[in-house]
Amino acid sequence: MREGQAAVIHRADYQPPAFWIDTVELCFDLDPAKTRVLNRMRLRRNPDVPVQPLRLDGEELNLARVLVGGQGTSFKLEGGQLVLENLPEGHEPFELEIFTTCAPAKNTKLMGLYVSNDSFFTQCEAEGFRRITYFLDRPDVMASYTVLLRADRRRYPVLLSNGNLVDQGELEDGRHYAKWVDPHRKPCYLFALVAGQLVCREQRIASRSGQEHLLQVYVRPGDLDKTEHAMNSLIDSVAWDEARFGLPLDLERFMIVATSDFNMGAMENKGLNIFNTKYVLASQSTATDTDYANIESVVGHEYFHNWTGNRVTCRDWFQLSLKEGLTVFRDQEFSQDLAGEASARAVKRIEDVRVLRTAQFPEDAGPMAHPVRPDQYLEINNFYTVTVYEKGAEVVRMMYTLVGRDGFRRGMQLYFQRHDGQAVTCDDFAQAIADANPGSKLAELLPQFKRWYSQAGTPRVQASARWDAAAGTYTLTLGQTCPPTPGQPVKEPVVIPVAYGLLDDQGRELASGLHVLTQASETLSFQGLQAEPVPSLLRGFSAPVVLEFDYGDAQLLALLAHDTDPFNRWEAAQRLALARALRFVAQPHEPVALDAPFVDAMRGILRHPTLDAAFKELVLTLPSETYIAEQLEVVDPPRIHAVREAMRQQLAQALQADWEWAWEAHQVGGAYRPDPVSSGRRALAGLALTHLCLAARASADPVWPGKAYQRFKDASNMTDRFNALSALVVSGHELARPALQRFHAMFKDEALVLDKWFALQAGAPDRGGNVLPAVRQLMQHPDFNIRNPNRARSLIFSYCSANPGAFHRPDAAGYVFWSERVMELDAINPQVAARLARALDRWNKLAEPLRGAAREAIARVAAKPDLSNDVREIVTRALAD
Ligand code: TRP
Ligand code: ZN
Repeated sequence: MREGQAAVIHRADYQPPAFWIDTVELCFDLDPAKTRVLNRMRLRRNPDVPVQPLRLDGEELNLARVLVGGQGTSFKLEGGQLVLENLPEGHEPFELEIFTTCAPAKNTKLMGLYVSNDSFFTQCEAEGFRRITYFLDRPDVMASYTVLLRADRRRYPVLLSNGNLVDQGELEDGRHYAKWVDPHRKPCYLFALVAGQLVCREQRIASRSGQEHLLQVYVRPGDLDKTEHAMNSLIDSVAWDEARFGLPLDLERFMIVATSDFNMGAMENKGLNIFNTKYVLASQSTATDTDYANIESVVGHEYFHNWTGNRVTCRDWFQLSLKEGLTVFRDQEFSQDLAGEASARAVKRIEDVRVLRTAQFPEDAGPMAHPVRPDQYLEINNFYTVTVYEKGAEVVRMMYTLVGRDGFRRGMQLYFQRHDGQAVTCDDFAQAIADANPGSKLAELLPQFKRWYSQAGTPRVQASARWDAAAGTYTLTLGQTCPPTPGQPVKEPVVIPVAYGLLDDQGRELASGLHVLTQASETLSFQGLQAEPVPSLLRGFSAPVVLEFDYGDAQLLALLAHDTDPFNRWEAAQRLALARALRFVAQPHEPVALDAPFVDAMRGILRHPTLDAAFKELVLTLPSETYIAEQLEVVDPPRIHAVREAMRQQLAQALQADWEWAWEAHQVGGAYRPDPVSSGRRALAGLALTHLCLAARASADPVWPGKAYQRFKDASNMTDRFNALSALVVSGHELARPALQRFHAMFKDEALVLDKWFALQAGAPDRGGNVLPAVRQLMQHPDFNIRNPNRARSLIFSYCSANPGAFHRPDAAGYVFWSERVMELDAINPQVAARLARALDRWNKLAEPLRGAAREAIARVAAKPDLSNDVREIVTRALAD
């Protein structure tokens, strides 16, 4: 088997390591073309495993020397692994020294040690450490690290690694060194180093116990003024984890470093988090309210990994959700707690559910469907998914619901009491939460509850109601089913917490509670009612399921008007809009005409005297094209796009006076602050402006496009400026062109703003097939660079993955573009290429001729020789669908 033609890895095949590595001393002579790495380890045989050779992982390394106990030794290279057979017998520790070189400047995969903007960075999760040195590259091997960095002093003045700086000084030839010792044992995926010309904002803080810490945020010179929000988010994160979970910062020094070349969002390396600049840098003139919110949640997420991921880590990569699902749950709670009052918390919950339903539900219904704890993979990078992260967080949230807030905190305490310093499994986590809550529903139902970890697919809850007027009895029947997924034809019932309420016709709450559904079908009954109630089911989205209930419009309008649960209030509006969208999609020859009750209800929300602007913005945003597509057996994306656009156009015109009022009434004065209230007002004003520009399109009235252009020019923050620009682009007004040109000129030196500029054009509504030619032309723009993942995502992904109406062209030109880019990217960065490959996951549901054309495009990619494991796994699974 040659390197890169690996086999499928199975969870059931887990074996403990044959050796333990206790200490690692790494010495780096950093050079972009040829970096020398000396790795001195102390190892010992694992007494619990039969005697066998040592097999160390390595990838794209040049091996110079191997010494055991200071002496030369024989070794073999097998399938990329370094195999040592003649090691000391017995269980005494021995020393192994390995000297290798690598070429960071040529590392376009951005895994292992790479160069970005003349600085060095590392990314080791999941399996990048093997690209730095030969090692047991698996998370259950935890070692103590000492790291010596040597580099040219002028080019690389800052030298960072995990833990504490214990020594630094000058060397000959203009070089210098820094020595770092990490006081905590860790798996190698948490190793990091950074070297380059960086500057930092720093802040000293004291924890509740009085312990002092140094917090630092490192960026390129010139970006320092954009680090205040990240630093504040970090300070808030430290305080929150201590207050909410009693988890303190366990390091003297905690560093965040930003790089503009990064495959994902950020990485929780122990004490040295490395971030995509997108999740660090913010100023009011370059970042939107959404950017500010994302920075807060990603800074929180990585910080919270310090306990959930780093102190307790994963036994193997199948357990990835152990740290990711739990840490996403924690960052969601953090953002809600910082948002403050109930309405702002609900807005955050709705946004999180929207991500789950538009990204995770489709994943769970397609060829890449996998359990939260997968059973097999070809390439682990492909399993950093919305299922592992977001559905994993919902599974943790259901445990939280079943044991309560205090019970969950107790469960977390027991988890750390039992497992601090260990590499464990999802079972260990669930067991700890259950054991800390004897007598709880979770403890009682634990084996069945854990099916959430092993079963893929989104369960459907079928609810039906019977009203017995004579007896005053209301009976709810709840059933559950789950469609088959690849490799799992039959599903068992899961534990589904269903939060509910019953409303009377005045909107008063008659009953509320939590029903824990465990059987395929169960019945609930309510006595002594005067009239048939309206059921509010799955409040707060209490489980990651599809709820099927045959709501009538009157019931939905009642929920929208009165439900005490803000989530279900929003959900009622989504159901009203979805029902209409599906009806129009099904009737291609009927006009898209919205009924007065629906339009009036939307007006009622928009004009509501007490509801928050942020909530109104969510209610008045129609379900996404992707979400509508998920409800259909056969999908014609351009048709869905046309229907949704027509609905939006009608809302624009029918509510024009209301949108004008909303725009005027939601202007935000004073200094810029990205808090939930001001952000919500800006969001609603932005939505209003878009609708006003759309309405102007029908009437050819230049007033609102003129106002949008004016706002675009005068705005004092990026949120308002970008919303105005977007209103012009979305409405297709001729002022969009000069505005885009001006925007580019204003921000030509701001990479993250240029990403927005590319993304806006690639995501624009299609008008006669105009988006693809524009995208192809933008590929030639001097600012485009396919090697930079943020830039590639902003142009290519915004078109292929986020603009279904423009991508799924009947002439298949979108698919041709997609296959070209997947293959081009695969030669540069397979991890990014494999993400793009997933844009055609749902090909099998497309209407002909799109379906056949999409399949052909996937087959073309699959036929390419030398495909990475990453892309090969995605296209092979797609074709098997
Ligand atoms: N552990 C990181 C997080 O969720 C994810 C991550 C960052 C990652 N970079 C990566 C995963 C590269 C795989 C490859 O916070
Ligand atoms: Zn994470």
